Amino acid sequence: MSACNDARNGTYINMVNKVLEINYEEFCCIDELESGDKALAQAAVEAIKGSYAPYSNFNVGAAVRMSDGRVFTGANQENAAYPSGLCAERTAMFYAHAHREGAMMESIAVAASQNGVLCPSPATPCGDCRQVMAEFQTEAGKPMSVILVGGDRIWKFPSVDSVLPFIFDSL
Ligand code: THU
Repeated sequence: MSACNDARNGTYINMVNKVLEINYEEFCCIDELESGDKALAQAAVEAIKGSYAPYSNFNVGAAVRMSDGRVFTGANQENAAYPSGLCAERTAMFYAHAHREGAMMESIAVAASQNGVLCPSPATPCGDCRQVMAEFQTEAGKPMSVILVGGDRIWKFPSVDSVLPFIFDSL
């Protein structure tokens, strides 16, 4: 009898419990980051100024660092027809990718504010943005770090895999 048949009878022979562990770093403030990450985090905070969010009043900025050192920023852009808007992360990544000139994405930082105040907790990217990060990490062929900036704490994930486990990758 195969293991599957046994499972149907309520007897699990080959099933194994697995646990996924995600390691990331927490910093208390932007000044605690190393210089490259600090500059990227600051660029993400600065990019919030470009946000157009009259519907949600949730202002998000993102900054992408390329392998050649260039930094591209973007902010969320909303629209009266809600789905027509775009998150800050994808605005920044698509802008960066359109100007990549052979460079690859190395890192992305994200920050959000409400009523002009940086959100205390780090803003965490939506699933669509994580999938787009995954695509560009695959293109780069090496880990792309993700830095989520909050007023009270900052999280640094070593790669997109940490924020999007079991990445779908058709390439
Ligand atoms: N938003 C982002 O720009 N990035 C995120 O990580 C989460 C959400 C935007 C989309 C929309 O303009 C507003 O925040 C509220 O969801």
